[in-house]
Amino acid sequence: VLNEYKEPGHGRLRIAAATTANYFAPALLRIFHERYPLVSVHLDVTNRKALLAQLAENDVDMVIMGMPPGEMDLEAGSFMENPLVVIAPPDHAFATGKKIPLRALEKEIFLVREKGSGTRQAMERFFRKHDLKITYGMEVSSDEAIKQSVQAGLGLGLMSRDAVQMELTLGRLIIPDIQRFPLMRSWYLVSRKGKHLSPSAQAFRDFVLNEAKGLLRKPPISAL
Ligand code: PGA
Repeated sequence: VLNEYKEPGHGRLRIAAATTANYFAPALLRIFHERYPLVSVHLDVTNRKALLAQLAENDVDMVIMGMPPGEMDLEAGSFMENPLVVIAPPDHAFATGKKIPLRALEKEIFLVREKGSGTRQAMERFFRKHDLKITYGMEVSSDEAIKQSVQAGLGLGLMSRDAVQMELTLGRLIIPDIQRFPLMRSWYLVSRKGKHLSPSAQAFRDFVLNEAKGLLRKPPISAL
């Protein structure tokens, strides 16, 4: 039992990841598990609002999310770029366009994630900043459902490129060449400031901040 508190080789690790991080977090956990097979990991996948609630309640050691909020006392380290892209069905008129102007988006319908999603927040901010009058369509509560809805022709979507690898490879979705895109963000590993991290949590933090980028951008992992 003592080991649980002293060595990173044992103990528990409670992480929560933004829904989009779900597309790479398991690959990271696989490598971490190979190094620390006795650490039992609990992974919760949820949206930004719920991640922040878990941090506030001290329910997790750390979270993986997009832009951490300024108003909470948090320690955040960025570890990888997180480009947000527009996605469209392959037969969309945008498919053949080059450097499509932002204004062209005003003629489209955009599907949106639920309130509380960090992706939705970033998207609305971006469109506001560029003074675009966007028509919003269905509100959909997961990236998976957004992708299916875009494929079905219900509108366009905007999400982290990490979430659409498979659909791009299979030719089910495209990323049109739109000016100002991708919208660049980063992935952050975030914990409460001053939180005492167990050795397992510390080991995970060091692993993600120092190695994640190199490991994830190598083909065998990103192709998972
Ligand atoms: P979300 O995740 O859209 O699922 O909330 C992304 C983020 O935290 O920015």
